[in-house]
Amino acid sequence: MKYEISRHGLRGEITVPGDKSISHRSIMFGALANGTTEISNFLRGADCMTTISCFTNMGVHTDVTPDRIYVHGNGLKGLKAPSGILDCGNSGTTTRLISGILAWQDFSCSMVGDASLKKRPMKRIMKPLSMMGADITSALGNDCLPLRIHGKQLHGIHYMSPVASAQVKSAILLAGLRADGPTSVTEPYLSRNHTELMLRTFGAEVTSEGTTATIYPAEELYGQKILVPGDISSAAFFLAGALIVPGSEIVLKNIGINPTRDGMLTVCREMGGNITYENICTEGEPSADIVVKASELHGITIQGDIIPKLIDELPVIAVMACYAKGTTIIKDAAELKVKESNRIRIMVENLKRMGADVEETDDGMIIRGGRPLHGAVINSADDHRVAMSFSVASLNCEGETTITHKNCVTISYPRFYIDMKDLVHTGQDFGRVY
Ligand code: S3P
Repeated sequence: MKYEISRHGLRGEITVPGDKSISHRSIMFGALANGTTEISNFLRGADCMTTISCFTNMGVHTDVTPDRIYVHGNGLKGLKAPSGILDCGNSGTTTRLISGILAWQDFSCSMVGDASLKKRPMKRIMKPLSMMGADITSALGNDCLPLRIHGKQLHGIHYMSPVASAQVKSAILLAGLRADGPTSVTEPYLSRNHTELMLRTFGAEVTSEGTTATIYPAEELYGQKILVPGDISSAAFFLAGALIVPGSEIVLKNIGINPTRDGMLTVCREMGGNITYENICTEGEPSADIVVKASELHGITIQGDIIPKLIDELPVIAVMACYAKGTTIIKDAAELKVKESNRIRIMVENLKRMGADVEETDDGMIIRGGRPLHGAVINSADDHRVAMSFSVASLNCEGETTITHKNCVTISYPRFYIDMKDLVHTGQDFGRVY
């Protein structure tokens, strides 16, 4: 990868694809609702297409048109036994959320996934779902995929989750939709609340108090019109790129700024980033245009309750930290080890290849910024967020960078390299060639 950057840095306006978490949920809840759900700005990345194919396999009809997805819901009692095994591909969100739905169906089925997904821990959902009466087993006995689920009548529980995970919380809430009483989940820190917000829109009774969410059994859900905001986790790559490349100024259009997801923006500001909002919209999921200008960054400590609000952005934050003055410490982020790859190890290994002064810790990393980076061969570990993070790292360093399996970005952002090239080439006057 060799970006030719305009003397003016990254320039222009960009609309990133729809939010991945919200897109998944719009299909799932639409499938369980009565009537049709119309989804605009749906993310057509591989993960969300996997969710569509799982529900197609369970008898739900969707129309995929150029600008909308229509989900013709089967109602809460209308899913059909799939003809074969449900293939969840690379998607942890699909696997964990669907498990909560499959737990109360009147059929049995199995779920598989790709090599990365097969390594990811499922005990975190198997345990609470089993406490609710679910019959869910791991075929190999290792608490990973393949999973086998026999639908059962479930019981409401109050679960104290050891992890702040929206996937775990959502699996339990979705199981609670048809349990025999209220179901609640308390998390150590609040994770993203898209499930709570969207289930309420679809007509379910869901309450939130502090880090506890409670759902009451529902008789019916109702199809909705959903406008998916731009994904802050995708916008994060351009935010970081614009902050670190001198002379940059970009506008990210219509980005979701839900307060349970906005940790990246907080961190950029705390590091000295010049970031402002325009056109704030507070209807439904809040969104805004985000204006970003290149800034002198400095290191900070990132820990505690902000971690779930920026968990997917930590790889690119690590890149930003290399370009910041001073030390950045990332703590309380052991969850990074069980994402699509071990993101602590893989980021540290690759950043070192580029010449960064970075150290792996048990629950994060320590980055001493300010050392110039150089191009390198980067192992993406087939992880979309790692590949995109190093595309950003390569923007402001000498030499050429090669990213293995760089097309893994199709998981969440199929047009990523095209959009990045547009931003770096918008200026007329090319001053530096890498
Ligand atoms: C997601 C929750 C997060 C996040 C993932 C999407 C979701 O995972 O990392 O990309 O849509 O609920 P965890 O819940 O495992 O932290």
